[in-house]
Amino acid sequence: MTVSTADNTPLSSDDTSQVKPLRYPVICIDGPSGAGKGTVTWRLAQALDYQLLDSGALYRIVGLKAFEAGLITADTNQTIDETAVLALTQSLEIAFVPNNKSGRVDILVNGEAVGEQVRNETVGGYASQIAVFPTVRQALLKLQQDMATRSGLVADGRDMGTVVFPDADVKVYLTASAEARAERRVTQLLNAGQTADFEAILTTIKARDERDENRTTAPSKPAEDALLLDSSTLDANTVYEQVKKHCQDQGICFNS
Ligand code: DC
Repeated sequence: MTVSTADNTPLSSDDTSQVKPLRYPVICIDGPSGAGKGTVTWRLAQALDYQLLDSGALYRIVGLKAFEAGLITADTNQTIDETAVLALTQSLEIAFVPNNKSGRVDILVNGEAVGEQVRNETVGGYASQIAVFPTVRQALLKLQQDMATRSGLVADGRDMGTVVFPDADVKVYLTASAEARAERRVTQLLNAGQTADFEAILTTIKARDERDENRTTAPSKPAEDALLLDSSTLDANTVYEQVKKHCQDQGICFNS
């Protein structure tokens, strides 16, 4: 694992006995849903043996719990009680636990592993609704920042490079047209044996982008020092290679 000093000078393993490492490297991959962040984040974490932070999962968990508690509905025009969502967020015990079997990080909520039930578009919509609240974002901040105190980290989200890890070693903003992202989602659903309506998916994607990019607190946007990458016409491998090259240019060492 590479350890960097605050001025970003990589330390060799010999040096670490003399100089206390101040922090671990952090790579931020921000951008909208469906741009391919998840795949790049996963591959980088595997290649570098870093931990992975799926910050969207946090907002999805709170969104789902808020729905189950009757605090939100699918109606995006409703008025939501921010204080109640904050109280709910604070009542949740959320932990990231490395799973040595799968090589992934399990998310436990009140001791129970959160499965695939947070991964659908409906829960993504709930997440986007509660993600506008500054107090809820603040309540989730430390949990995310703590992830970088244990090892190198690859963080996937909307505000990783702008708010959560402003001093990150590498920042990438990965985007793609709404049409390309809707097309990918359709293919994913069809491959999973489900039905898919392109127009309906496109409308949902655009509505979520609009909310995530235009909220007042921590909107989804590239950090000033982020590499902008449009994956609309690129395959996943090309995206990964371009991001990897950028990481190397910023001083991150890959073994392979
Ligand atoms: O990345 P995702 O689709 O799992 O994220 C779900 C929603 O959570 C997204 O629409 C907005 C919110 N989110 C956020 O506001 N900030 C993050 N860092 C990650 C996700």
